[in-house]
Amino acid sequence: MLSTRCASRTALHTPHAPRLYRHLSHRPRARPQTRAATHAYAQRRQQHFVRSIATVAILGTAATAWQWYSGDSIFREVHAEEPPKEQEPARVQEPVFEAQRRAATSTEDNRDIISSQHLQVKRSWENPGVYAWGSNSGRVVAPDSQSDFVKSPRRIPFFDNLLLRDIKLDRSFGAAIDERGDLLQWGAAYSKETTQPTHTLRGKNLTSLAISRDRIIALSSSGEVYSVPVSQEEQRTGPKPETTSWIPFWGSSSNISYRIRTPSNLNWSERVTDISSGLEHALMRTSTGRVYSFASGSQDFPGKGQLGIPGLLFQNRPEGAFDIPHEITTIKGFPISKIATGDYHSLVSDEAGRAFAFGDNSAGQLGFDFNAEAVHVDAPSLIPTQRLYAGTAQQASVTNVFAGGNTSFLTIESSKPRPAAGETERTTADTWAFGYGLTGQLGTGRWIHNQNQPVKVPAFSGLFEYDEGNSSVIPIRLAYISVGASHAAAVMDNVASVAIAHTTRKAKHQTDNDVNWGRDILFWGNNEFYQVGTGKRNNLSTPTYLQPLDQAAEAERAAGVFAGLVPGKLAKDGLGEFHRFQITPRQKVRVSGRSVVMEQRVECGRGVTAVYSAV
Ligand SMILES: *[C@@H]1O[C@H](CO)[C@@H](O)[C@H](O)[C@H]1NC(C)=O
Ligand SMILES: *[C@@H]1O[C@H](CO)[C@@H](O)[C@H](O)[C@H]1NC(C)=O
Ligand SMILES: *[C@@H]1O[C@H](CO)[C@@H](O)[C@H](O)[C@H]1NC(C)=O
Ligand SMILES: *[C@@H]1O[C@H](CO)[C@@H](O)[C@H](O)[C@H]1NC(C)=O
Ligand SMILES: *[C@@H]1O[C@H](CO)[C@@H](O)[C@H](O)[C@H]1NC(C)=O
Ligand SMILES: *[C@@H]1O[C@H](CO)[C@@H](O)[C@H](O)[C@H]1NC(C)=O
Repeated sequence: MLSTRCASRTALHTPHAPRLYRHLSHRPRARPQTRAATHAYAQRRQQHFVRSIATVAILGTAATAWQWYSGDSIFREVHAEEPPKEQEPARVQEPVFEAQRRAATSTEDNRDIISSQHLQVKRSWENPGVYAWGSNSGRVVAPDSQSDFVKSPRRIPFFDNLLLRDIKLDRSFGAAIDERGDLLQWGAAYSKETTQPTHTLRGKNLTSLAISRDRIIALSSSGEVYSVPVSQEEQRTGPKPETTSWIPFWGSSSNISYRIRTPSNLNWSERVTDISSGLEHALMRTSTGRVYSFASGSQDFPGKGQLGIPGLLFQNRPEGAFDIPHEITTIKGFPISKIATGDYHSLVSDEAGRAFAFGDNSAGQLGFDFNAEAVHVDAPSLIPTQRLYAGTAQQASVTNVFAGGNTSFLTIESSKPRPAAGETERTTADTWAFGYGLTGQLGTGRWIHNQNQPVKVPAFSGLFEYDEGNSSVIPIRLAYISVGASHAAAVMDNVASVAIAHTTRKAKHQTDNDVNWGRDILFWGNNEFYQVGTGKRNNLSTPTYLQPLDQAAEAERAAGVFAGLVPGKLAKDGLGEFHRFQITPRQKVRVSGRSVVMEQRVECGRGVTAVYSAV
């Protein structure tokens, strides 16, 4: 059911054999020949301009035409299969128009001017907070605004200078955990009267969150799992655990309704370490690799098999509360390392690199052959990932699972089990997508209803970069994908540099032109609420970069860079364009005079997106 909207630019994009070497530390040997490629080329030059090393191998699929060395592409002279023997040492790329720059007032100022990336990393440390965009129908991304949409990243003033442990968003409510482990809630579904984020469950030392249609599932540092209604009204009137009424003056405890959903038969020292929730069901993973599921919403009992308990229906559920946890015993012998949930389906992967799926398969989101007789699969079933690498002599291992809405993703690493003599062993990292993709959320360049065979996401597959640290070519893995109901964002685990503190002390080999930069982050999918963040409303089927979040700082920097330059020349050099948003990886820094380990994280929700400063 491929729609004819299949973007023409993807026609440029030929599928690549995973063995192709896509290392970018050399100047392209073929000049771009298409407009898209010219644009990419301009971007690339711009990047060279700001980067002191010549590595990162991703620029989004629009940029692939010339970059990705593809045997059957129009650039026939490029046929590199192995990295060239003489690995050029990376050099500091000197700015091309040194003379025209505004004079830098200091080394640090110089870094800011030459590099948007450096400035972005710095601003993320100096100015922590939450940027949000997308649908504002539930007053979530801009609580103070009556507008229906926030079209591009904007700060939520309440969170200025706050570090958060987690944030989860729906169009109609938001939930966050502050640095002390207390729950904050806002949005129309929480309360129509209270617009600012408000503390609800306190004193539990919460560490992570998951949300269903109408409840918040929260995990504490000690492994306790709480299920809290979203609605303030329900929190006030619903049944409260006895412990809170025993000690009314227990300052740290909240006088609200919630339920404890920690599995009761955990072994000594075994605790819940991960939670994930769909609209009606949640999964819990324990430290020993067991998985439990329970009904996490209060409107409908999860009846599409997403609990992973064969035969379990509302009618025949065991006695007791409808939302008691069930251990998924059919995957018992497989210690599970990752869990993910879409709206109505579940994915788990084990330590041996296998993946299992269960729940709704109506859009092919379970990754195995679609069977019209069995759209709901209630027993965890193996996704045949080895089949994806059949005939390549590569051994494949699932490293992570991600899901949202009716769409799923797997990251897989493959390598030859026994490399031939003289052959360097190379691991390849790929990302596969399946399920619903009609608004582009598969990221594969296709608009498709039911993708029941995993397809490779070219933008995140078979990428390599040159690591200066140990002079080797390494695969670029995905750090993670945040999958919303119908859009997504992926953070690349590219070699980042955040070691340049703003101090006067210079690290060994550090020059005044060395700069910090973060991880690449790309967005795609449904954009009807502007949730992708491009400022436009067209849906995107290929992963795309955004502009840097802090546009004010960027404009100031650009003014420094471009001072004295003729606009026509800027356009010609492709330098008139702004840089791309990069997200700051984990680093120990000083924030408001204290030392913290923090990073920026992205969260895609239901029609909304946020980037926050996480501890
Ligand atoms: C609260 O949680 C944090 C983060 O997990 C942990 O480091 C800290 O020890 C916890 N505090 C208590 C009192 O358990
Ligand atoms: C808890 O909330 C209920 C209902 O809002 C109220 O009647 C009760 O007095 C509160 N208890 C305490 C200890 O605040
Ligand atoms: C507790 O651990 C023991 C030994 O590891 C194991 O045999 C037993 O099944 C575990 N109990 C549960 C409830 O998992
Ligand atoms: C997912 O599939 C269900 C039917 O199983 C449908 O009701 C729902 O709208 C779909 N959600 C999205 C985000 O496409
Ligand atoms: C180089 O460093 C990377 C991590 O940065 C590591 O994965 C890789 O194994 C190292 N390679 C060698 C040859 O040491
Ligand atoms: C994007 O997808 C949504 C949901 O299917 C659709 O309503 C909208 O028309 C699409 N936007 C464009 C520009 O095609």
